[in-house]
Amino acid sequence: MKPRLWAIGLLATVLISACSRVQSKCSGGCDLALASYYVWQGTNLTFTSQVLSASIADIVSYNKDSISNSNSVLWGIRINVPFSCGCINDSFLGHEFNYTVIQGDTYDKVATQYYSNLTTVAWLQAFNTYPATNIPLNSVLKVVVNCSCGNSTVSKDYGLFITYPLRPEDTLESVAAGVNLPTTLLQSYNPGVNFSQGSGLVYIPGKDANGNYPALNPSTAGLSVGAIVGISIAAIAVLSFLAFCIYAGIYRKKKAKEAILLSGAHELSDRAGNGSDPAKPSESTGPAAGFTGITVDKSLVFSYEELAEATENFSLANKIGAGGFGAVYYAELRGEKAAIKKMDMQASKEFIAELQVLTRVHHLNLVRLIGYCVEGSLCVVYEYIENGNLSEHLRRSDKEPLPWSTRVQIALDSARGLEYIHEHTVPAYIHRDIKSANILIDKDFHGKVADFGLTKLTEVGSTSIPTRLVGTFGYMPPEYAQYGDVSPKVDVYAFGVVLYELISAKEAIVKANGSVADSRGLVALFEEVLDQPDPREDLRKLVDPKLGDNYPLDSVWKIAQLARGCTKENPQLRPSMRAIVVALMTLSSSTEDWDVGSFYENHALVNLMSGR
Ligand SMILES: Nc1ncnc2c1ncn2[C@@H]1O[C@H](COP(=O)(O)OP(=O)(O)O)[C@@H](O)[C@H]1O
Ligand SMILES: *[C@@H]1O[C@H](CO)[C@@H](O)[C@H](O)[C@H]1NC(C)=O
Ligand SMILES: *[C@@H]1O[C@H](CO)[C@@H](O)[C@H](O)[C@H]1NC(C)=O
Ligand SMILES: *[C@@H]1O[C@H](CO)[C@@H](O)[C@H](O)[C@H]1NC(C)=O
Ligand SMILES: *[C@@H]1O[C@H](CO)[C@@H](O)[C@H](O)[C@H]1NC(C)=O
Ligand SMILES: *[C@@H]1O[C@H](CO)[C@@H](O)[C@H](O)[C@H]1NC(C)=O
Ligand SMILES: *[C@@H]1O[C@H](CO)[C@@H](O)[C@H](O)[C@H]1NC(C)=O
Ligand SMILES: *[C@@H]1O[C@H](CO)[C@@H](O)[C@H](O)[C@H]1NC(C)=O
Repeated sequence: MKPRLWAIGLLATVLISACSRVQSKCSGGCDLALASYYVWQGTNLTFTSQVLSASIADIVSYNKDSISNSNSVLWGIRINVPFSCGCINDSFLGHEFNYTVIQGDTYDKVATQYYSNLTTVAWLQAFNTYPATNIPLNSVLKVVVNCSCGNSTVSKDYGLFITYPLRPEDTLESVAAGVNLPTTLLQSYNPGVNFSQGSGLVYIPGKDANGNYPALNPSTAGLSVGAIVGISIAAIAVLSFLAFCIYAGIYRKKKAKEAILLSGAHELSDRAGNGSDPAKPSESTGPAAGFTGITVDKSLVFSYEELAEATENFSLANKIGAGGFGAVYYAELRGEKAAIKKMDMQASKEFIAELQVLTRVHHLNLVRLIGYCVEGSLCVVYEYIENGNLSEHLRRSDKEPLPWSTRVQIALDSARGLEYIHEHTVPAYIHRDIKSANILIDKDFHGKVADFGLTKLTEVGSTSIPTRLVGTFGYMPPEYAQYGDVSPKVDVYAFGVVLYELISAKEAIVKANGSVADSRGLVALFEEVLDQPDPREDLRKLVDPKLGDNYPLDSVWKIAQLARGCTKENPQLRPSMRAIVVALMTLSSSTEDWDVGSFYENHALVNLMSGR
């Protein structure tokens, strides 16, 4: 589906429903309610946003703690999805979602899986007449999700409510702790409900996008309120529209002259294509299978006690970072400096087998995995890398600006690390979360790729392991974000974004005027400039101002061209990491030799990249 059309459709739908809300005879509705969506294994934000007709940007804004801190979504957590709560059949509060039936759908699947128990089979059947055994393909089911707008008898302090499907692990205490409210309050909003019953809906107060509990609206009826509702819904629609424009901008089709980088890269990408499914063979041979019968190297396995001691009991003072998988601590371990990543999950058998494989992967440009601990919580021990991550070096004001030659070197180093995992490890790996924060800088200012293998680890795990579903916004190529297609070209795309970061020191998603509504993808920003008739001078405006004039424009131009090839919409047109390494080697070894302004050099670069 074309994102723009989608956005316009969304805008239209929301505006129409806003208008009809204003005229509605219902007096009990409210413009906003939240649905607590349990993120089941196998789903993702894209899917959730489709079934609950909310934009990803809107969803993220209500879940800043669980989504945007780590820029990723875990399986096995709940997220709050905004929707409007209206009066249905003049008798109760709810919202009617539309779901288009695909092959194999049943009422049960729609209720218990797609809608995460926000509705029930009986409730679906109350609104849909199709026989349970024969729901026609492509028919549209009305999916009604109940909601609440509050109860002035209980309290006037809460005006936004979460429709919360109880799960077997929930108790009154745990649900209350989750929203940090008294148990008595929750119970009075749900009189007579046993919160330990394992299923069924309860309504609990929720926080708005600013993290506050909004108070009950004094009059839920009345024209002025209706107008406000209409206006605020329209505002939300406009914001979603803008958000989608950014989204669309990233994937924007361009008719620009394609040829430069790629005619020849095909052969290479075909070759890489053979290995282009490295995840597959590794799944079948299986890391666990590969290791049956091989004795565990005990020196890799640390006790929890030893790690706790080395990190002063995982003290804040020793904490050096936090990522999507957990917090990172500095430690002195057996005389070596180490970084210990303490994860909020348990290790499965497959996970441990995989860690053993990872400890055997050694490369100068990969952060080395020293060992792990599986007692209690899972910890992974890495070699300590002195100089922090690339993202900090590019953007933190207390860091010296990186000279251009160092940037090219770091690009080459990371490309080498990635080439190694794509082409030389057995099984091959796809990193899936390449970004500047995952490229660490050592004391000699060489780059090392961190965290590889971890995305894969979470995949082979059981359902009890929360799984990182998506990489990081701004670094995900369209085929991955939209269809979940995974190939090494996912890393190539993200690497291209890192190259743009090296040039501009801007973040992958650029917030203009500090506002989310004005933000755009770095890829779109560069493409706009590179598409101009004479882009070289305009390219200067994108170069990191901290470099002053201390950079060869020609070298910057070539990196920009390379980044552009890496971020092509069609994954097959992106070069392989091997071709990228070759191109960057040429560039870094002869930075001074490049003579200005010749198009033929591009061909030289292209030919090198395509291995001719
Ligand atoms: N081996 C290491 N040596 C030094 N610092 C590290 C190491 N690993 C991680 N860090 C620091 O901790 C931060 C978070 O790491 P990580 O968990 O890899 O982030 P994410 O999960 O977001 O990719 C990194 O950005 C880095 O600053
Ligand atoms: C909604 O109202 C219609 C007619 O007013 C009625 O036939 C239908 O059963 C009602 N549906 C539900 C689910 O209450
Ligand atoms: C669902 O479809 C009906 C009828 O086609 C439409 O009136 C309604 O607005 C749609 N609801 C949503 C949430 O898109
Ligand atoms: C919904 O509830 C059913 C039955 O309790 C359970 O098996 C299923 O896993 C639940 N669905 C989700 C998405 O949690
Ligand atoms: C929604 O509310 C109606 C009316 O109170 C109720 O009959 C129905 O069972 C509820 N649906 C769900 C899924 O709880
Ligand atoms: C509001 O709460 C009171 C007390 O718990 C209850 O009697 C009443 O039915 C509730 N009203 C609504 C609309 O839920
Ligand atoms: C609530 O339900 C749980 C599980 O069904 C049960 O063990 C418990 O006794 C119930 N509590 C009350 C107060 O009924
Ligand atoms: C998102 O989830 C849907 C439903 O499970 C699936 O079909 C789709 O491939 C997933 N996409 C991504 C990017 O994971």
